[in-house]
Amino acid sequence: MILNTELEYKGNLFPSKIIAYKKDVDTLYFTSENNVVLQLTIERDSVLRFRYTTTSIFENDFSYAITKYASKGFNHLEIEEDDKNYIITTSKLICHISKLDMRTSIFDVKDKSLICEDELGFHWEESYEYGGDIVKMSKVAQDGESYFGLGDKPVQNNLKGKRFENWVTDSYAFGRTTDPIYKTIPFYTGLHHKKAYGIFFDNTFRSFFDFCQERRNITSFWAQGGEMNYYFIYGPDMADVVSNYTDLTGKPHELPPLWALGYHQCKWSYYPEAKVKEITSTFRKLKIPCDAIYLDIDYMDGFRCFTWNKDYFPDPKRMVKELADDGFKTIAIIDPGIKIDNEYSVFKEGLANDYFCKRADGPYMKGKVWPGECYFPDFTNPEVREWWSNLFKELIEDIGVKGVWNDMNEPAVMDVPGKTFPDDVRHNYDGNHCSHRKAHNVYGMQMARATYHGLKKFSYPKRPFAITRAAYSGTQRYCSTWTGDNVASWDHLSIANAQAQRMCMSGFSFVGSDIGGFAEQPNGELYTRWIQLGIFHPFCRTHSSGDHGDQEPYAFDNNVTNIVRKFIELRYQLLPYLYTAFWRYANEGIPILKSLVLFDQEDPHTHYRNDEFIFGEKILVCPILEPNARGRRMYFPKGDWYNHWNNEQVKGGKENWVDADIDSMPIFIKAGAVIPKYPVQQYVGEIEIKELKLDVYFKLGKEKSQVYEDAHDGYDYKKGRFSLRNFTLVGKKDSLTIQQFKSGKFTTSYETFELNLHGLPFNISKVVVDNEEIDFSKIITNTNSLIISKEFTDLYILGE
Ligand code: GLC
Repeated sequence: MILNTELEYKGNLFPSKIIAYKKDVDTLYFTSENNVVLQLTIERDSVLRFRYTTTSIFENDFSYAITKYASKGFNHLEIEEDDKNYIITTSKLICHISKLDMRTSIFDVKDKSLICEDELGFHWEESYEYGGDIVKMSKVAQDGESYFGLGDKPVQNNLKGKRFENWVTDSYAFGRTTDPIYKTIPFYTGLHHKKAYGIFFDNTFRSFFDFCQERRNITSFWAQGGEMNYYFIYGPDMADVVSNYTDLTGKPHELPPLWALGYHQCKWSYYPEAKVKEITSTFRKLKIPCDAIYLDIDYMDGFRCFTWNKDYFPDPKRMVKELADDGFKTIAIIDPGIKIDNEYSVFKEGLANDYFCKRADGPYMKGKVWPGECYFPDFTNPEVREWWSNLFKELIEDIGVKGVWNDMNEPAVMDVPGKTFPDDVRHNYDGNHCSHRKAHNVYGMQMARATYHGLKKFSYPKRPFAITRAAYSGTQRYCSTWTGDNVASWDHLSIANAQAQRMCMSGFSFVGSDIGGFAEQPNGELYTRWIQLGIFHPFCRTHSSGDHGDQEPYAFDNNVTNIVRKFIELRYQLLPYLYTAFWRYANEGIPILKSLVLFDQEDPHTHYRNDEFIFGEKILVCPILEPNARGRRMYFPKGDWYNHWNNEQVKGGKENWVDADIDSMPIFIKAGAVIPKYPVQQYVGEIEIKELKLDVYFKLGKEKSQVYEDAHDGYDYKKGRFSLRNFTLVGKKDSLTIQQFKSGKFTTSYETFELNLHGLPFNISKVVVDNEEIDFSKIITNTNSLIISKEFTDLYILGE
């Protein structure tokens, strides 16, 4: 029997006293009397890796999560001992390892404060049934400690008092108490006494996290097999914890093409071709911007991946081209289950090459999915991944499909207990052969990886775009994701908000929900409120199940269409702003959405806030999550904020009521911000950008903003062909200065800037651009907007 609790079983075993210690470059080994070895690697000054074996021999050191690009190296390392402890000091932290029982405590090097401390520390239970150990760790929860992260858990931000399981699971119409669901991201951030640290438990077996639920003041995590292998990441800033975790498990390999940040329209399913065209032409007719249209499973011939139903889609290449001519990128779904059919080439190839997963005693892993009985490629085999990636040639290179949507890759199997493979299924695991117990949580990730490589190969020199439902830590390197089969309910709108924020705090920022809800049908009001939230999610797609009626922005009434259009237009205007946030995420691992706690961890009010978040660096958003609302109360974090709709100013650090009728929502801009905007386009690249709008929000004092741009697709930006504008704004009682420092080798298509000055406390009397006074007639004073038709470095605005 495998116990699902950390302490229920009293036969726990513990390391005994340390009898040997050795050091090998950046790694220390401590051996106990009963053959437990703790391998402690100093990854960085603020990142330690703890790994334990109970047999004195470690497994092959292999991880799908950790990227080879992770930063390594430290500035300082000192190892001392006293009669009780080994003491390891880096430039950021001090770690004590008890000689008596291997328990560890970690302190901040600066003020010697305790950050994280083992309770029982590492302990284990032998697994008679499977061999090896059930590996466990428990830590003392510090006074007032809060917990965040763990991927897509559909609960409020702060995880304290809750227990979770990690086992990637197809969860149609999940709810707040459904656990586990689609993703396994065994990473959390702890925050106490204003300091944050993170723990990433890199173990792919079914794992559990308990945040003071089983025992008050104890946090524990354990897994049903494998090694106790975790990374401790010190902040003390939460943003640094998340960005260091993202550095370890990887940032996106490339920026998405800009169109992928546009609006996407999806449904299960749009077919035949005439229906697809009807949808896309209605978007254009009604002037609702849209960049991507999706083909769900019905485009295939009998749900066989990489085939087309020629009755519905007689000439896919022509259709895809016609859609492309109208600005629509076609995205097609590809599932892992391959139909058992001796006439079907993908099946035949997979069988001939022995690429399908097998049960322990040799038979194939057979399971029912959409096409009926299927076999499933073993994506943990590198040769299978290579084969799979090559299957995309026709779809991408010949037909011109621009993106691939991987679904059901938990893997989901219908009508069986557990809704997935049985435990005994064998996997290659990149040469570390194992059962499904170990490979389950990474199966979907490896499928997404293979798909990503296929797309990359055949889209080149354009950038790939993929989306996955299942994920393990590190999947963010390859693709985007959505939160799975949600429901058209107000509660799910709020779940979507929490999930997107949580995923961003878990290193996976390219995320969105099925806008409007997948199951059941939203009314116009719910759909409108969901779009308002959705345009602030990095991945922005309406999707719904076909059984529940239409769910296009125009499927409700005119009022809804008009409001939804207005918000999608706002998304398109903000594309350069979002792209800049994405660039920061891809470069530095800074989450695109920041929960308030991540924005200001020092303010205890933020520790239990769920609804408000910061989009990028400067925009504070708070969705309306209830029907019939004409506004709501929300919390304003530190700083000064301008109401996007009326420029009213609010001082942070308090809760306020904000009006927001159905055609509005609370959106606030940080004082001092320079927000770049493009004109509204029906799709990315529809028009050449001739002018960059800069919305400037006056602040007394100094504030920096950035605008990143490049060709919006392709790889030239990696060779320096990007444009990075660094703005420094300095506001005084009677003047405003904006300095621009530009770097990168990319020349933007525009040379003109339209500056809209918000909240100026004075009337303009003089404008000087690069030491030259400019003619006042160019200034439209009533709206405080001015046009500068050249690249400028210094702008000086003087008041009367
Ligand atoms: C799953 C997916 C959903 C998709 C459907 C049919 O339920 O989560 O998005 O539309 O399968 O492919």
